[in-house]
Amino acid sequence: MEYNIPRGTYDILPEASPARQALYARFLRLAEAFGYHEITTPVFEQAALFERSSGESSDVVQKEMYRFNDRKGRVFALRPEGTAPVVRSYLENRLDLKGENKLCYWGPMFRYDRPQAGRYRQFYQYGIEFIGSDHPYWDAEVISFLWVFFQSLGLKELRLELNSVGCPDCAATYETALRDYYRPHLDQLCPDCLKRFELKPRRLLDCKVPSCKAFAKDAPSQLDYLDQSCAEHFEQVKAFLNLMNVPFTINPGIVRGLDYYTNTAFELIYEGIGAQNSLAGGGRYNGLIEQMGGKSTPAIGFAGGIERLLLALEAEGISLADSPGPDLYVIAMGVEARDFIVHLINELRAGGISVVYDPEKTSFKAQLKAANSSRARFAAIIGEDELAAGQVMLKNLETGQQQAVKADALLQFLG
Ligand code: HAM
Repeated sequence: MEYNIPRGTYDILPEASPARQALYARFLRLAEAFGYHEITTPVFEQAALFERSSGESSDVVQKEMYRFNDRKGRVFALRPEGTAPVVRSYLENRLDLKGENKLCYWGPMFRYDRPQAGRYRQFYQYGIEFIGSDHPYWDAEVISFLWVFFQSLGLKELRLELNSVGCPDCAATYETALRDYYRPHLDQLCPDCLKRFELKPRRLLDCKVPSCKAFAKDAPSQLDYLDQSCAEHFEQVKAFLNLMNVPFTINPGIVRGLDYYTNTAFELIYEGIGAQNSLAGGGRYNGLIEQMGGKSTPAIGFAGGIERLLLALEAEGISLADSPGPDLYVIAMGVEARDFIVHLINELRAGGISVVYDPEKTSFKAQLKAANSSRARFAAIIGEDELAAGQVMLKNLETGQQQAVKADALLQFLG
């Protein structure tokens, strides 16, 4: 074959679709229960939307973004994440005036990173954004949404890691402390970390190079540099989480890969699916909306990756949905019943019943075999007698029970 799928992408084959659809359906159902409404934004946006909002210093934006010029030379990017587009849409469509401040979404995101298990160049995220309040209750509610979602799927080996990265003021004090700590060791840091030291020192804590990691271990913690109001906010988030029965561990190393975070930051970790073990992550972004031209509006949200979630479900042997068989397999037995069958099938399909019929199969044995391997719930056997009586012999393929059903009653029976 001459063509190959792009590296880091994959086809969602029919056999894999039902489980994904089941995940989206469950996510959307839970979102509804929490009062969220679905929003869908384009897969490409002005590149500047991400460059200015998500990341002057973030790898996701600086190194991994698919950036391109359109035919008129405008600079666009395939979206690497969903938060900035949702905020753009919230502002552009004045959703504040419509009271639409709980938004959920799912869809493909794009990052040019080195592909590996659980890391793709096109991957699928589901996420929620709560816009409009700084009250710690909302932080806990967003986190508990995530927790309840994973609990409802039956996953066990989960760890919710929580941190506060503070407001810009405490972040600045902390970054000074971090620079003081790292300065004597600059000659031992990797080239990326030297840039991080200048641009966004807290990212030094996230470096995967072993020699750099060793320094991160003893680095000062942001939690010791929170001002009183940020520390209080964090305490209250923890208190609400306890009230909501959401277990968490504090990890001051959670720095997040995008630039807009303030205060609460969290990740849901699942051990046992390799290095890419963050199933979902999020946090507050109280400055983003103002930065994008709106009035100062606090917000918080999270997003998770479908691929990693599917890997985790597989690791725990949880299957959400098998490819469903059709409702009915029509077997014509030695009769010239073309009109009757075509009419019946049309009526059933229009009524929402899934039907399989293959006019090219004529032997009863071959048709019954095909009906069984299609995993249909029922077979409708139509022989001379049935045709004459305007009915079908309906066979339950699981129990083997048979009963005659009038053709015009079949839709109601199967529905
Ligand atoms: P993020 O941590 O960059 O946050 O991504 C969220 C999740 O998307 C990750 O935890 C992971 O499950 C999945 N993910 C990220 N990159 C890849 C990849 N290359 N391949 C497969 N899965 C991946 C955000 O995107 C923020 N917008 C989350 C947020 C919402 N913060 C506030 N609101």
